[in-house]
Amino acid sequence: MDHQAYLQAAAATRTERMAWWHAARFGMFVHWGLYSQLGRHEWVMNRERIPVAEYEPLADTWKPGPRPAREWARLAKEAGMKYMVLTTKHHEGFCLWDTAQTDYNAVKRGPGRDLVAEYVDACHEFGLRVGFYYSLMDWHHPDGARCAHDEAARRRFLDFTQGCVHELCTRFGKLDILWYDVSWPLRSPEAWETYEMNAMVRELQPEIIINNRCQLDEDFGTPEEHVTAEAEGRAWEACMTFNGSWGYMPAAIDWHSARRVVQMLQEASAGGGNLLLNIGPRPDGSVPDEAYARLETVGRWLAANGEALYGQVDRVRGRMEWLPTGSWTLKGNIGYYWCHRWPGDTLTIGGLQTPVKRISHLASGAEIAFAQQGDRLIMTGLPTESLDPEVGIAVLKFEFDGEPRQRLGAGCVLLD
Ligand code: GLC
Repeated sequence: MDHQAYLQAAAATRTERMAWWHAARFGMFVHWGLYSQLGRHEWVMNRERIPVAEYEPLADTWKPGPRPAREWARLAKEAGMKYMVLTTKHHEGFCLWDTAQTDYNAVKRGPGRDLVAEYVDACHEFGLRVGFYYSLMDWHHPDGARCAHDEAARRRFLDFTQGCVHELCTRFGKLDILWYDVSWPLRSPEAWETYEMNAMVRELQPEIIINNRCQLDEDFGTPEEHVTAEAEGRAWEACMTFNGSWGYMPAAIDWHSARRVVQMLQEASAGGGNLLLNIGPRPDGSVPDEAYARLETVGRWLAANGEALYGQVDRVRGRMEWLPTGSWTLKGNIGYYWCHRWPGDTLTIGGLQTPVKRISHLASGAEIAFAQQGDRLIMTGLPTESLDPEVGIAVLKFEFDGEPRQRLGAGCVLLD
């Protein structure tokens, strides 16, 4: 196969394929599998060295409640998320769909139903784009480790892997995102036959977008547990746990607040990236109360302030400066100032190089009085408490007369 030709063909359609995803900004990650029953993190099998024979019976004891995916999708929609990504097979190797590649699947074992099909239906019902997570690493498959040093095992494991991926791309209608994970133990895209596999995926799903955890860069990068922009020109999505564990884990009690989630959204948007925030449903599929409450709050905030992040945004770095009271997102001649430390009745911003025509409070539309003197802009007549009492992040919309620029330097006089 001509690898260069494959890469060029994918690059040629990338901008078009990724447009909806950039505009969507915010998605829900769902980690749900046999490990949810143990409630000790999705790596429990590896971290506690549980032998396959001891782990396997979890496939029979797993009895999810009816259609939990509807609850996730309803919540995602309410939270302002536009797409979802479900673990169709995590490292443990249990397949959530009716696969012909192994009997270790949700239809043949405890659940007795196709959980991926239910999920896809729920995404459609709530108008969310559909993403499938698929772990290349497999702790259950007999060749999952052996493939590294046994050629016959590698062939069998690749046939299994390609068979699974083929099914995922053909049985559930249009698939929007393929989210690979952990490509242990093979060490190159040649060894994984990634070019060939992804060419097949793109043939079956021409509009799909694919992440970078398959030993090829593909369409987007996946910083994990930190919201950090990738290089200019490179699409990225920060994937974040809600509480430090991807799988359901009652002992993980340090939940990100709704306020922190909104800050992550600002950081992602300012860098032109996305945020994929995880929920780890309980074994019955229900969403932990902590996640529920916070996502509902985030949803209310986004209903009023979504304009500051959805759609086409421009990268802030190099254009605007850090400030003690807030941070920016940018769209053309508009700057959105996410004020997360409300200063009281007067808010001053230094260093703006572009004249401001109008400032308003995004959520209410109320106009804000200001004076711009040189590179000092002073807003007055503000309330003493934040205009956003629930989350404490009020967005002020700046309409600039041209491309917004801010320069502060380190001294009190700009040198040069
Ligand atoms: C990791 C972990 C995993 C999790 C994933 C999500 O690489 O192995 O458990 O599913 O990242 O990004």
